[in-house]
Amino acid sequence: MTAAARILVFDSGVGGLSILQEIRRQYPHCCFFYASDNAAFPYGTKTEEELIERVDIVLHTLQQTTQADIIVVACNTASTVALPRIRERFSQPVIGVVPAIKPAAALSQSKVIGVLATPGTVKRKYTQQLIAQFAEDCEVISIGTSELVHLAEQKLRGETITQQQLEPIVQRLIHNSAIDTVVLACTHFPLLKKELQTALPNIKHWIDSGEAIARRVGYWLDTLNIDLGDHASNTDSTAYFTAQSPNITELQTALIRLDITNTQFINMGMNND
Ligand code: DGL
Repeated sequence: MTAAARILVFDSGVGGLSILQEIRRQYPHCCFFYASDNAAFPYGTKTEEELIERVDIVLHTLQQTTQADIIVVACNTASTVALPRIRERFSQPVIGVVPAIKPAAALSQSKVIGVLATPGTVKRKYTQQLIAQFAEDCEVISIGTSELVHLAEQKLRGETITQQQLEPIVQRLIHNSAIDTVVLACTHFPLLKKELQTALPNIKHWIDSGEAIARRVGYWLDTLNIDLGDHASNTDSTAYFTAQSPNITELQTALIRLDITNTQFINMGMNND
């Protein structure tokens, strides 16, 4: 029996579960730690300085507990600003999730693409550079929305999301008949893919980062020669939250569906609140 590779997947809320699901699909016997910084949720409206500090502090605390072999920052909003600092400060490989503009621009035939992200990610210099570098031949329609992030959270807590809730948010994409490709540049949004497909039936390609991140995890597992573990050694996965909140109970069904059977709290208020 070999010890399973330990993988920490981190986000502000439930969005990173869309990434964890994909990594687990490809590497089912790894030991997963999911962490939601729900005390500081949402990240999409925070300043860059706040995020850089916050992600650093929270990841250090989590890493003391989890001793992960690989850290996945499963959040575009955090990755597009905090990755250089985090990579400098951790000896483990840190995998980030950034908007998949490059594959979207390559796949689009109409050369009109939509980007759905948080307000923070849309504003980032990093995102602007990706567009300039890989999508200069495309018209890019970006929507920065925290409402969609909240809807994804509600869905995972068991609520039904209606088209009446979604349509006003993606109206600019609905009204542009030339768009054929949409980038889900926030890890919360793949959790709403079915609902988005209903709102935007003409979109041919929906691009998210799940598979690419799972491949990257595979690369590091190989490179570091970390044992994948075997079924016998697979310990139960744990979800960590940075604040106790009654709505975590409502998440249990979604967590159990992803084989996350333990919940723990590492209370870390934002600005010592
Ligand atoms: N899931 C995160 C992302 O990928 C952000 C959600 C939030 O605003 O907290 O950007």
